Amino acid sequence: MTARLCPSGAITYERTDGGPQEPAPIVNLVRMREDGPLAFNAELRIAGEEPRLRATLCRCGLSKEKPYCDGSHVDGGFIASGEREPKASEPLPARNGPLDVVPQKNGPLEVTGNLEVVTGTGHTVDRTTQTWLCRCGHSQNKPFCDGSHAKVGFIADGA
Ligand code: FES
Repeated sequence: MTARLCPSGAITYERTDGGPQEPAPIVNLVRMREDGPLAFNAELRIAGEEPRLRATLCRCGLSKEKPYCDGSHVDGGFIASGEREPKASEPLPARNGPLDVVPQKNGPLEVTGNLEVVTGTGHTVDRTTQTWLCRCGHSQNKPFCDGSHAKVGFIADGA
């Protein structure tokens, strides 16, 4: 059970008793962590890597392990609300399935697939099948990219 609660996916398990493995979530979510990363729980494919169910991805721009969070937001004094006003959105026809996350060179995370964006306290702020999430830390419309990465000269590898 501990492994299923690990937000970063660093703790995983594999059953060897023939029992069912950890199931994919019935709703793909990304949660905005107050002053911290984007916490995904979904059938994730990040930059074409092996599928995984959980990951915390950097949204402060400071991680040395991009696109993953390495905790640099703490030393860097990153300030970002985990809350925001909801966007207008309709319920998705399906709420799960594969979710592709592709870091754009010097830009945001492009996310394609069924996804619900929720605040740190669990309020849904968007339902989408394609979005671009800020990972430079400077968007005025977090967690969404507003193009500020170009103005601040954000440098990061793409996938
Ligand atoms: S990645 Fe931050 S504004 Fe685009």
